[in-house]
Amino acid sequence: MKSNTIPTLGAAAAFIATAQAGLRFPCSTLTVQRLDPAGQPGALPSAHLHMIVGGNAFNATMEGDVGERATCTTCQMSEDFSNYWVANMYFKDPKNGTYHRVMPKPVQPLLGGSNGAQGGLTVYYTQFDLSRDNLKQQAIKAFPPGFRMVVGNPTETKKPHAGLSYQCMSGSNRGTIVSTWPTGKCSNGIFTTHHFAPCWDGKNLDTPNHQDHMYNTVTSEGFTNAPACPASHPVRVPQVTFEVEWDTNKFNNLWDPKTDKNPFQWSFEGTGAGTHADYMFGWKGDSLQRAMDKSECFYDGCGSIKKQAMTEANKCTVKDFVKEDIDGWVKYMPGQDPSSKPMVKKSFSA
Ligand SMILES: *[C@@H]1O[C@H](CO)[C@@H](O)[C@H](O)[C@H]1NC(C)=O
Ligand SMILES: *[C@@H]1O[C@H](CO)[C@@H](O)[C@H](O)[C@H]1NC(C)=O
Repeated sequence: MKSNTIPTLGAAAAFIATAQAGLRFPCSTLTVQRLDPAGQPGALPSAHLHMIVGGNAFNATMEGDVGERATCTTCQMSEDFSNYWVANMYFKDPKNGTYHRVMPKPVQPLLGGSNGAQGGLTVYYTQFDLSRDNLKQQAIKAFPPGFRMVVGNPTETKKPHAGLSYQCMSGSNRGTIVSTWPTGKCSNGIFTTHHFAPCWDGKNLDTPNHQDHMYNTVTSEGFTNAPACPASHPVRVPQVTFEVEWDTNKFNNLWDPKTDKNPFQWSFEGTGAGTHADYMFGWKGDSLQRAMDKSECFYDGCGSIKKQAMTEANKCTVKDFVKEDIDGWVKYMPGQDPSSKPMVKKSFSA
């Protein structure tokens, strides 16, 4: 392609031939509930509210082969019954102190007929960085059934791990990558990114803090190749990343950066440093391994990976397990009323 303009990542990808690898696809919102089968398995409800995408096997407890159990998914890659979730963002009105849920913006159409996502997030599985594979250097092993992991820590107050970030969007410009809440108003929402650890111990589907079975070699922002995995965590897994665009601009006339503190926060009242994300593997059979073994499985999938129209993906739902009202202006975010909150703070929960 001859062009003197720099194409966007999406447009560039469409013209790059072979030798790139990694998937990038939208998943619509599946449900917004207080459930957390990775951080707080069995808790009904969990401590804080999550925005969840992916397969319909999602529930408070998830063991075994999720990909075999689920029958639909909100993700464009229709063999991906994994679940991906983040804390929901909230706006706290600086005048009267009440809270309102911030909605995720529909994922921008990507390639390959991905129009029509509802809310949700963009998922990436990369082998190296955004434009190369590392199949020749180190084989990528797909996660086994039952695998789950968390990146980030809601109790962190100083600085999130590299790869967990915020950007203040204006128009289509994503803005500078920062490690905590943008300080000014963002005219087109707040963009959050969550890069997971790419090295696995090869044994544990999970560990008590949901992170020790993984080794995080991510040392800088953006999609960069992770350094070699250490001997303690020798298995190179796909680099999972997801991005959410939060629709904060509808609250912009309710606060003034000159006099008010940042009014946005997570559903657990953390500082910006507590940003975190959860992953529950659920690709059907060997479908993710097939994608990771092929250089041409870049961005928009490849022949061997099945896709569905987002209109189909949007039909996938799960039941409301928790049954609490999460809409409108509320005095407390779900689960955060100090008078009714069970104060179980014994272990890390995401
Ligand atoms: C979650 O789903 C599994 C498998 O269908 C089931 O065995 C389990 O009881 C469910 N757990 C809850 C809390 O609903
Ligand atoms: C608080 O402020 C918001 C935004 O102006 C408003 O919609 C809401 O009704 C107010 N709530 C109370 C309890 O005053």
